[in-house]
Amino acid sequence: MQVDKTGEELRGHVQEWRRKGDHIALVPTMGNLHDGHLRLIDVARAHAERVVVSIFVNPTQFEPGADYEQYPRTLATDKRKLTRAKADLLFVPEVATMYPFGPADATIVSVPKLRDDLCGAFRPGHFDGVTSVVSRLFGLVSPDVAVFGQKDYQQQLVIRRMVEDLHWPIEIVTGDTVREADGLAYSSRNQYLTEKERRIAPAIFTVLQRLAADLQAGKRDFAEMERAGMSSLASKGFDPDYVAIRRAANLEAPDRDTDELVILAAARLGKARLIDNIVVAV
Ligand code: PAJ
Repeated sequence: MQVDKTGEELRGHVQEWRRKGDHIALVPTMGNLHDGHLRLIDVARAHAERVVVSIFVNPTQFEPGADYEQYPRTLATDKRKLTRAKADLLFVPEVATMYPFGPADATIVSVPKLRDDLCGAFRPGHFDGVTSVVSRLFGLVSPDVAVFGQKDYQQQLVIRRMVEDLHWPIEIVTGDTVREADGLAYSSRNQYLTEKERRIAPAIFTVLQRLAADLQAGKRDFAEMERAGMSSLASKGFDPDYVAIRRAANLEAPDRDTDELVILAAARLGKARLIDNIVVAV
């Protein structure tokens, strides 16, 4: 596997592949790779001859006081996993490579319609950080395809919207959420959980599943269902930010006839903030 740190090295390799007629798929990550990330590489491989994975803990998407400093950095293990997963190239830029004018003076790419809702309401500036870094990665790699996980449902919608609005010829593919045996979605932040919290954590998925079953059974009192979801999370020891039932296509409020819904939840458990979602076609 090729490992590149600078934009010049990366561009050189990507151009070489492109000259041969290969398509390029990009999987952006912040590292500390788990099975959720690795599955996205398989999805990427199905869409392109070459798979580029980036690992960059992006300072601009951590709100002040968040876990930027503590975020797990495990590059040596990540490299071994990526070699086994047959990624073609790992891009590991420095902050100065990604933000040549510094993070504070960086050009900001922003998707106003989606950035302040749900997770954006609890993490001010977060989605501007995500779109600002992903747009730079797109500029550096010029991928044909980029793969994101459904686990971060709002994130993949924000990126789809950005790409469509800016007319970038990049296909966005969303990979299914990968879960541990007990239903907890893999996340780099799961390791912030104590043993006791780890046993409670799968309840976020159980609560979503129960709401999904209610929707399938014809229940449509969305506000009441959201309240019930919040109080079940609270009763299990979570400090929930939100439980929300929205239109899957754009996160707008659904009505009784909406047939593609998404149920999303975000909740704090000890030091970790967990998010999860289920898409329901009714
Ligand atoms: P990170 O949290 O490292 O996630 C990288 C990618 O893996 C994202 O697309 C995320 O949705 C996906 N992912 C995480 N857990 C998953 C799981 N359990 N199942 C399936 N996919 C999963 O998301 C980011 O990094 C950053 O915001 C980034 C897009 C890299 C921009 O900095």
